[in-house]
Amino acid sequence: MPGTAPDRVGRNGSGRLARGAVLGVQAARIVFPPADRAEIAAAVTGMLATGQLTLGPYTKQFEAAFAAAHDSPHAVAVASGTAALEISLRAVGVDGRDVIVPANTFYATAAAILRAGGRPVFADIDAATFALSPDTITAALTPDTAAVVLVHIAGLITPHVDEIKLLCEQRGVALVEDAAHAHGATYDGRFAGSFGTAAAFSFYPTKVVTSGEGGMIATASAELADEARIYRDQGKGAFSANHHVRLGYAWRLSEQNAVTGLVHLRRMDEFITRRREVAARYDKALAGLDGLEPLSEPAGCRGNIYKYIVLLPPGADRAWFKQELAAKHDVRLAGEVYDMPLHHQPVLAEFAGGTLPVAEGMCARHVCLPVHSDMRDDEVDQVLTAVAAVHEALTRSPGSAAAGV
Ligand SMILES: Cc1ncc(COP(=O)(O)O)c(C=O)c1O
Repeated sequence: MPGTAPDRVGRNGSGRLARGAVLGVQAARIVFPPADRAEIAAAVTGMLATGQLTLGPYTKQFEAAFAAAHDSPHAVAVASGTAALEISLRAVGVDGRDVIVPANTFYATAAAILRAGGRPVFADIDAATFALSPDTITAALTPDTAAVVLVHIAGLITPHVDEIKLLCEQRGVALVEDAAHAHGATYDGRFAGSFGTAAAFSFYPTKVVTSGEGGMIATASAELADEARIYRDQGKGAFSANHHVRLGYAWRLSEQNAVTGLVHLRRMDEFITRRREVAARYDKALAGLDGLEPLSEPAGCRGNIYKYIVLLPPGADRAWFKQELAAKHDVRLAGEVYDMPLHHQPVLAEFAGGTLPVAEGMCARHVCLPVHSDMRDDEVDQVLTAVAAVHEALTRSPGSAAAGV
């Protein structure tokens, strides 16, 4: 349980490391309490006995539970978050057309656009939210824009989400949410996944809810949900039929993954509560450290703290900052969101366009402190002590820190 005595770390009575002890704070921890592991193992044993290994009852239960947890009329489980994005984009129709995407997202967001036949148009972001804004979308619109992909980076929902939705409606452009980071996050009491025509969630292991691998499409449209079910199973017109009506793919979620996600999803509220407690402690402590700026949660947003973002002073050497934390304090930071903007990714060079100064600056300047769904208070203390010490070194000698010395 959060904040209680450690059960996996520390020294025994003689001062030696207990068996299985792990020192330091890791970048991420995947949390499946023993009862959940046993429940998943029993379910897998059952499905191995029956042979119902794909598109079976656990997939249906996972979809229903995910939809209920996000107030979404429909949810369709698929093999990955990338598949959820590609299917959503295929369903709204982007083939041969432009799709606006923020520069500071994961490669998969752009890859899904390309695979759905669209052309990514990279847009700048709002520094306060790490998300697209109505202004940056307007600057990137072309006469041939088919869709905008709004990414809820770090599990934060921009307070401009309603304006963005309206802008898209007025321009006749589809809004698709990349909600890979945003399980259970809300704005104004409305869940991630409820703003766009379709939303894509990821269950990659480090996400707040995981199924091992997996993804989910949330939508209010029964028609889009039906299309998504066709796409995920090779574009087949019906489960047992052999006629293919869409260019689908092998995007089914296995039953093993589905039951893993179903059991994990039950912990979502508990996990988010603990992550928010950790973030509140970080907020309070970092307020006293000049030059380090935690990204504030926008008014009206209740994020899931998938990532806790801190901006370093301009010019500070991020690699040095991370190395000091790891080498001297045994604290490993989580991966950035993201360190290289998409228009600088070699494989996307032909879509690069011009500079996007805000996204470039934010990508270069931020770090993500570790947040685990069961993070203990002593681990939070260790992170804060470490950050204060490295901040002190940075303040004493900003020149050497900037030079990476
Ligand atoms: C913003 C974003 N979009 C899409 C994805 C793709 O999800 P998956 O890895 O499940 O395919 C991820 C996953 O890491 C992500 O972070």
